[in-house]
Amino acid sequence: MFARIAGVGGFVPGEPVTNQDLVRRGVDTSDEWIITRTGIRARHLAGPGTLASDLALEASRRALSAAETGADELDLIIVATSTPDCVFPGTSCILQTRLGNRGAMVFDLQAACSGFIYALNVAEKLIRAGSCRKALVVGAEIFSRILDWNDRATCVLFGDGAGAVVLEASEKAGILASVAHADGSYHAILSVPGHISDGKVAGDPFLRMDGQAVFRFAVRALFDVALECCSAAKVSPSDIDWFIPHQANLRIIDSTAKKLGIDSGRIIVTLDAHGNTSAASIPLALDAAVRDGRIRRGQKLLLEGVGGGFTWGAALLEF
Ligand code: UT7
Repeated sequence: MFARIAGVGGFVPGEPVTNQDLVRRGVDTSDEWIITRTGIRARHLAGPGTLASDLALEASRRALSAAETGADELDLIIVATSTPDCVFPGTSCILQTRLGNRGAMVFDLQAACSGFIYALNVAEKLIRAGSCRKALVVGAEIFSRILDWNDRATCVLFGDGAGAVVLEASEKAGILASVAHADGSYHAILSVPGHISDGKVAGDPFLRMDGQAVFRFAVRALFDVALECCSAAKVSPSDIDWFIPHQANLRIIDSTAKKLGIDSGRIIVTLDAHGNTSAASIPLALDAAVRDGRIRRGQKLLLEGVGGGFTWGAALLEF
């Protein structure tokens, strides 16, 4: 029994905000700097009042429709997010009721930018164990809420969005291997340190990052975990049809792909249009390439992510 992707959906809010738009809004940066250092050209930013569950709902409806699955058929919903609607209940519970599901096992998963890969891993294991048959796995983020717009080293990098997949138990091949890791000793190089205490935010409520330390960590972790996942699935990187990495920085993506021997024509890149949408980035990239017809049934996909924690992981699947 495999866990197989039955449908994919994605959603980004509003109109694209270009690098030039950020300059016009007063960020001390340039289109040239952002493109050269990251590959990002635009991102989408949610309007005031929009919450992660709003984005998750749209992406989930599209994934359920693609999978021809009713929300009432789901017996598991996982929402990977670091920007939940509220402290509790989980954004997954809010999503569940808005979709019209009752009774499924439902929880949020917090693994920053690796959240979707972690959630996919957990859903796969629950399906293979026979505990669930149909799962909705969502990455939904509104990172614009936790950005310090005076910190040009971080505020230009991120965007808002959501991506979702419906996973179902299947005798046909699906996820062949999924692996996930963490090393909390790196927690300080990418974090939002604040928390709520005595009715207000205690500590720093904004995303803080040591960009170069993150860069070094990401390049190493993404290469190692790709090899580990390929080996677990008994698939050579040369046999992968599409490489769908976390969309943080084109230089990280290119260097990982080069080391794996994956040519640029087999990489799905959406960070130019979305920026880094954290847990939403991989399903958004997957959705874009499924919708435009590049990804087809039967092809082998390598998904991988890395993020705050530090956390990282990969999944190799036959679509
Ligand atoms: O999901 C995981 C999350 N994060 C990542 O994967 C990010 C990983 N790291 C990176 O992508 C890169 O480290 C960055 C894109 C964040 C930064 O690139 P870098 O080549 O490491 O630049 P840097 O931090 O060394 O900064 C170089 C210069 C500095 O100026 P000086 O000191 O050389 O005069 C910065 O002040 O670039 C300056 N700078 C900017 N200039 C224009 C930093 N941010 C900006 C900006 N616009 N937005």
